[in-house]
Amino acid sequence: MEELQRRLEKAGIWDDELEWRVRALWKYGIEPISDPKLRATVGGFLLVVPLEFYTDHASRSGNFHPPWQNVAHGTFLSIVESCIVLPGWARHIPEILDARKNPSQRAIDLGLAATIVSDSWKKEPGDIHHGTDHGRVAADHWTPFALAAGLGRRTTMKVAEASVMHMGVYAPDWTPHTKLSPIARLVNLPDVATSLPQLKLIYRNVAVIR
Ligand SMILES: [Fe+2]
Repeated sequence: MEELQRRLEKAGIWDDELEWRVRALWKYGIEPISDPKLRATVGGFLLVVPLEFYTDHASRSGNFHPPWQNVAHGTFLSIVESCIVLPGWARHIPEILDARKNPSQRAIDLGLAATIVSDSWKKEPGDIHHGTDHGRVAADHWTPFALAAGLGRRTTMKVAEASVMHMGVYAPDWTPHTKLSPIARLVNLPDVATSLPQLKLIYRNVAVIR
C-alpha cells in the first residue's frame, strides 16, 4: 500500500478521503486474497493502472450507480463495495461450494482480483472512455502484466476472463448462448448489487412514503 500511496501523492491526488478508500480496498479487496503471488500481482497492477481509476465518478451520465459513487473516487469506492459483498455472495454460487456449502477460497481469490482489475481501465487520460468494453481493455492490460510478473497462466487467464465478462449479459459479445463461468458470475453479481441507483432509496432512508 505504501508504494501506491507514494504514486498517488506524487500525482497530487492523495488526500484523506482517498486514503480511507485505499485502506478499505486493502482490507476488503487485497488482504483477503490468500494466494500471495496473486495478491502481490494485483497490488503491483494498481501501480500501473490509469490515475483516473482513483479519481473518477462511477457513472459518466449519472444515471447508473447510487449517488455516493457519482463523486470523486466513486469508481474506486464501487470496487471496494463490490469486494466487501463478494465473499458473502460466493456462498450462493453452487459450483464453488464444498459439501458443507463453504465457498472455495481459490474462487474468492480470483473473484476479488477480477473485481479490482475489471474497472481499472474504464477511463484513460485525454477523456477516453471505454464504455461497455472496459472489462476487456482492462484484461488486455492485465494479462501481459501478470504473466511478466510471473503469475501462472491459468490464474492470469481466469482473472482476465472474469474481467471481460464482469458485466454479465451486458458484456461485449454476450449472446443468450453465452455461458458465464462461476467466477464471472461471482464478479458480476456483486458488481450489479452495489451499483444499483435504487440503493439510495434504502441507504439514504428515503423509501418510506410519508
Ligand atoms: Fe465495470
